Amino acid sequence: MSSLLILGAKSDIARAVAQQYAANGWDLLLAGRAINELDDLAKDLAIRHDIKVFLHEFDANDFDSHAAFVAKLPELPDGVITAIGYLGDQQQAENDWSETEQIMNQNLLGNVSVLNILANLFAERQSGFIIGISSVAGDRGRQKNYLYGAAKAGFSTYLSGLRNRLYQDKVHVLTVKPGFVNTQMTADMDLPQKLTAEPEQVAKAIYKAQQKNKNVLYSKGIWAWIMRIIRAIPEWQFKKMDL
Ligand SMILES: NC(=O)c1ccc[n+]([C@@H]2O[C@H](COP(=O)([O-])OP(=O)(O)OC[C@H]3O[C@@H](n4cnc5c(N)ncnc54)[C@H](OP(=O)(O)O)[C@@H]3O)[C@@H](O)[C@H]2O)c1
Repeated sequence: MSSLLILGAKSDIARAVAQQYAANGWDLLLAGRAINELDDLAKDLAIRHDIKVFLHEFDANDFDSHAAFVAKLPELPDGVITAIGYLGDQQQAENDWSETEQIMNQNLLGNVSVLNILANLFAERQSGFIIGISSVAGDRGRQKNYLYGAAKAGFSTYLSGLRNRLYQDKVHVLTVKPGFVNTQMTADMDLPQKLTAEPEQVAKAIYKAQQKNKNVLYSKGIWAWIMRIIRAIPEWQFKKMDL
């Protein structure tokens, strides 16, 4: 049986991913902060799909704990997905270093710290896959969320480099770039319905893309076209826009 490690398993997208992989018979290792909140979900998935589900405490900000966290896993999973992220408050972060630090740590450094360890183990084993949930916000910096965008841009670049490095080792890396998704993270935003995905749609697209060894997934797909246009706007014009 195959197994998937889900980091940030309490996230709405991660829960949908757990449902998706469980329905396809995968064992799950669910990791996150205060992870016992997923007790009921874990029991339900295990019984309904006749799979093994383990819960593991994991804090992306506690870099020094990451090697021990990986060493304590019951097995090295076939693949890992990280849904860890933090939108933060752009305006607050412009004046408050601790908010900027949170945005950088939770979207970039925490993920890089734990994936560095898993990448080495997968490379040594010569198999596995890594899925990183980044964002379209990393494709171009805008005044309204450039700190979150900068962290996601760093994460997208990290994943791209990892994909290039691990190709020789038969380890596949998938970068997921959602546009708007209807989750806790966006709960207080007025999102345009046509451009907004449900977590279940994103999870289905992730499963399909991972099975096909796709490199980059935009979800919804229309975001690939939107970002192509956004990236094509010349900088002299882009800097004057209210985005
Ligand atoms: N929703 C969107 O529109 C959208 C768009 C593009 C990209 N994304 C990305 O999609 C991913 C999933 O987000 P979501 O929309 O499902 O939102 P979410 O429900 O708020 O999920 C974010 C998750 O990150 C976890 N997390 C944050 N800091 C952590 C830390 N230090 N250690 C461990 N876990 C930590 C949170 O855990 P706690 O429950 O413990 O706080 C939470 O479960 C994120 O990377 C996000 O940036 C979302």
